[in-house]
Amino acid sequence: MHLQKHTNIQFKQIKAAATYTVRHPVLRKGLSLSSCAFDRDEDNSTIHLGAYLENKAIGVLTLLTNNRDVQLRGMAVLEHFQGQGIGKQLVAHAEQHVRLQNISTVWMNARLIAVPFYEACGYQKQGETFELPYGGTHYYMLKNLCDEA
Ligand SMILES: CC(C)(COP(=O)(O)OP(=O)(O)OC[C@H]1O[C@@H](n2cnc3c(N)ncnc32)[C@H](O)[C@@H]1OP(=O)(O)O)[C@@H](O)C(=O)NCCC(=O)NCCS
Repeated sequence: MHLQKHTNIQFKQIKAAATYTVRHPVLRKGLSLSSCAFDRDEDNSTIHLGAYLENKAIGVLTLLTNNRDVQLRGMAVLEHFQGQGIGKQLVAHAEQHVRLQNISTVWMNARLIAVPFYEACGYQKQGETFELPYGGTHYYMLKNLCDEA
């Protein structure tokens, strides 16, 4: 159970650059702001979602659309707001966007620390761990939206 402190959070589609105020402290701490620009951020099919509290982004994620699947990346909630259900709500909104594209497979490269979070969102680990330049050890995780009621 979460202590829902904030009832006035808005979820909306945003531009890539608007994710930086969350990506930077959470995913690229101590690195240059330019490290917050990800591959394919500006693709026409890429969707960035933000959770906003009083016009301030407190959580973000990005969806990269491929032919048969969507990759979720750049998942981050400001530290002060973590553990309050905001990440889970963002993922639920993201899955709605994916359904609208008639795609059912969502996957991500999950940092080890985030695996329990994604499991709570219904994603399953596949295969063995591997290393990525940012965030260290990762699992590939997957969910088929059609498996849900
Ligand atoms: C991972 C992250 C996005 C999760 O967002 P959040 O808003 O803190 O997560 P929520 O509060 O929505 O948690 C949703 C569920 O995941 C569970 N969960 C979250 N973190 C967890 C953890 N470390 N261990 C166990 N369960 C966890 C919660 O208990 C909750 O479960 P429930 O719905 O069954 O009660 C956020 O903590 C974050 O930004 N972390 C640092 C950056 C990061 O690792 N990003 C992912 C890169 S792959």
